[in-house]
Amino acid sequence: MLNDKRILLLIGGGIAAYKCLDLVRRLKERGARVRAVMTRAAGQFVTPLSVGAITGERVFTDLFDLTAEHDIGHIRLSREADLVVVAPATADLLAKMAHGIADDLATTALLATDKPVLVAPAMNPRMWAHPATRRNVAQLRADGIAMVGPNAGAMAERDEFGEGRMAEPMEILAAIEAHFGAADTALLKGRRILVTSGPTHEPIDPVRYIANRSSGKQGHAIAAAARAAGAEVILVSGPAEAADPRGVKVIHVETAQEMMAAVEESLPVDAAVFAAAVADWRVADAAGQKIKKGDGGAPPLTLVENPDILAAIARHRTLRPRLVVGFAAETQDVVAHARDKRLRKGCDWIVANDVSPETGIMGGDANTVHLVTAAGVEDWPSASKAEVARHLVARMAADLAGETR
Ligand code: CTP
Repeated sequence: MLNDKRILLLIGGGIAAYKCLDLVRRLKERGARVRAVMTRAAGQFVTPLSVGAITGERVFTDLFDLTAEHDIGHIRLSREADLVVVAPATADLLAKMAHGIADDLATTALLATDKPVLVAPAMNPRMWAHPATRRNVAQLRADGIAMVGPNAGAMAERDEFGEGRMAEPMEILAAIEAHFGAADTALLKGRRILVTSGPTHEPIDPVRYIANRSSGKQGHAIAAAARAAGAEVILVSGPAEAADPRGVKVIHVETAQEMMAAVEESLPVDAAVFAAAVADWRVADAAGQKIKKGDGGAPPLTLVENPDILAAIARHRTLRPRLVVGFAAETQDVVAHARDKRLRKGCDWIVANDVSPETGIMGGDANTVHLVTAAGVEDWPSASKAEVARHLVARMAADLAGETR
């Protein structure tokens, strides 16, 4: 809940401005107080009347509105808030913010504020990719400005495709709630989510096994974030380092075959996230007794392929979850391999990361991922595994609610 949290929403001039009406509605439902400022350009996309009807407060539109200045100056406006949210943040607004330009009420409030600022960029993919915007975004990040999105997807312009769509209202909401440390327990309420996590151990004999370096931290963080968002969560975990998250049904398994069986038994679910680092092969005839050193030299190990759990569930004839998310751990050509993997495995999204030893991702606490969807590729900023999990969960909630695909 966001009880009595005061949000100053600065609405920029972009086609995504209409999504702000939904954002305000959701913020109000959670008890927040929302005051809106619209730039002149925003007025081309939504009217102050409709914004005011939803915020329940007057909407501020112009720096030189003398009555408003008399009533409440821009300095007060920007300080009488717990958080300033800019959505949609156009390329122009980001540029002005990065350079401290204050030539209307919204930008003046941004320059005058001493409160944290969260921006939700939205623009044409070419504008987002432009070196000038890249510079401005880097500057804003260095200034401590938080960002949510943009996402990849179809743009309002015909035939335009790429990164630049504003984050969905649910994602912006989740970022706001994360800022206040309040997980939204309604985001995934009523949903059943399955997560696989950790490595698998494939026995050679009763004391030896084949394994990998996965710690289970990312998968466990996703299960915890989904639970915090109100979902019923089943976590099928290999022998992971990470502790069992609270409130989650955890099924402990050792091998890929056991993981497959546990996953199948857990269906149906609304969404499944396959974060486990499943061993691709197992030893064909694991010995029943400890293999002893002998005169014959090293024993030959014959490997056979394990079932591909992700591919099997993504292609399940009757119980395919509505949203199937795979991971791709790569050490080179990360995005190209991930795109290929998405198609090959038949899943909806792939969360791809570079696990070369120098990145420290495997076993570490931070992660840098790319989200590969049918709509394109998004490069997410480096974040803790918990943040990546919250972000992914918010994105999944938006998808299940039918906001994106
Ligand atoms: N996966 C799975 N079952 C397997 C192997 C992989 O469910 N037997 C899932 C992983 O949980 C992950 C995704 O498939 O979500 C990709 O795993 P990865 O090891 O990167 O892919 P591989 O299938 O091993 O492909 P490659 O060997 O080409 O890297």
